[in-house]
Amino acid sequence: QIAILDFGSQYSHLIARRVREMKVYCELYSCLVEAQELAAHKITGIILSGGPNSVYEEGAPHVSQGVWDLINERSIPVLGICYGMQELAYVYGGKVAPGQEREYGKATVKSHAKDGEDMLLFEGLPEEFIMWMSHGDKLHAVPEGFTKCGSTENAEFVAIQNLKTRMWGLQFHPEVTHSPMGPTILSNFVVKVCQSPTDWVMTDYAEEFIQSVRLQVGPEGHVIGAVSGGVDSTVAAVLMNRAIGSRFHAILVDNGCLRKDEAVKVLKRLREDCGINLRCNDASGRFLEKLKGVTEPEKKRKIIGGMFIDIFQEEANKIIEEEGKCDFLLQGTLYPDVIESISYKGPSATIKTHHNVGGLPASMKLKLIEPLRELFKDEVRELGMALGIDEPSVWRHPFPGPGLAIRVLGEVTEERVSILQEADDILIQELWSAGVYRDIAQAFVVLLPVKSVGVMGDGRTYENVASVRCVTTTDFMTAEFYRMPYDLMERISNRIINEVRGINRVAYDISSKPPATVEWE
Ligand code: XMP
Repeated sequence: QIAILDFGSQYSHLIARRVREMKVYCELYSCLVEAQELAAHKITGIILSGGPNSVYEEGAPHVSQGVWDLINERSIPVLGICYGMQELAYVYGGKVAPGQEREYGKATVKSHAKDGEDMLLFEGLPEEFIMWMSHGDKLHAVPEGFTKCGSTENAEFVAIQNLKTRMWGLQFHPEVTHSPMGPTILSNFVVKVCQSPTDWVMTDYAEEFIQSVRLQVGPEGHVIGAVSGGVDSTVAAVLMNRAIGSRFHAILVDNGCLRKDEAVKVLKRLREDCGINLRCNDASGRFLEKLKGVTEPEKKRKIIGGMFIDIFQEEANKIIEEEGKCDFLLQGTLYPDVIESISYKGPSATIKTHHNVGGLPASMKLKLIEPLRELFKDEVRELGMALGIDEPSVWRHPFPGPGLAIRVLGEVTEERVSILQEADDILIQELWSAGVYRDIAQAFVVLLPVKSVGVMGDGRTYENVASVRCVTTTDFMTAEFYRMPYDLMERISNRIINEVRGINRVAYDISSKPPATVEWE
């Protein structure tokens, strides 16, 4: 395996992802990992990540002497990226100091590697190439035994190497997509220099998780987890079921604001097809009762989030009564959720309260298990496919925790939810049959608190207006409206107006995020 020692960079998981893309197994460790822990594995190479500190700052993190001894004993190749390169300089006597100008963004790197061995890391690259920089400190002198192999206009030493000890340092970030030649450099290190086996597949990730969770939970432990039918909770639940079978208790909370027949479909898929020990708590009456008269979006979210926790807790108590205990909580948190919920703790304004990111009350004292914590959405989908989960589940668009309650604008009533369910179902059916569902990141219908006049047959109608929202995005932080072909728009609008009682007009939402958001509330 490749061991990535994490100094706290935003990009550490991206390095892991790039290594996995080469079909090489890798693990992320704290930069303070003990030598003993690493020694237990067959490490083919070590990557030192970037990080927010300065190497000479008091309290800055450093790799332990034990780990350096292990590296030397086993002649493990090392690649230091950004702070990682400065760490090499710190250990081997280079000179790092704040640069006169901080450098962020694209920079042209000039390669000084000549030929043969000298070119190992830069093989296949032109003499000059673009790389992404993000640093304040820079190297002013190469460490002992190292030579310079790359520079930019702004910095003399942006790539260094010691061919004898097989150590490289890069000031730039080959792992980010803005570094077009980054994958070549990383692959030169991981595959050519380290000779890591390239036989890793997603199912290995599953196997690894299953083994480790069995150890963690023990032969008698019980795990609870909420499922929503979305891809993340489905993949997490399938993995957990494979690990511990019926000692995993999946809970589906029907808040009365799910998609049409969703609870029934999820029960069929997870319980019948996947054999997951799943129970559904139909709390739709309770939710709708609490939502009576509420029109303010944040209030709706708070009510639903709070009720969800109460019901989940009731279910956990039932399990404790039946099994005598329940000590673990499964969550389908992905890596971008981890990053986002960290930044949520910062001073940034709360735009919307996302109830399933905040988690459950600490009083439940459940230990968290998060099998997808290191993965990106597309990797979860790949894992889902590898686990044999059906395509529509794997490719499902995200669905917000508060569900249709934030898509029925104004007061949420059973009748209005049901009108919206019908319209939403038609939209999704049509997108699948037109073969465009997977081109869209999220698609849904919003029921507006507005009525309009129409004519049907010879009669006047005075009914609800609905808006169709389809967006494309990669990260949901920004989004564009989907350029839907007119024929498809026409088919969707005709079907909704003809088939759904209560809607007589359909609009298409053409706002981008920002300044709009994806959801209307
Ligand atoms: P916005 O509307 O903030 O949505 O642009 C971005 C993405 O987040 C989803 N979303 C939620 N997901 N709980 C969730 O799990 C929530 O409370 C919530 N609110 C919005 C939204 O569907 C979109 O994918």
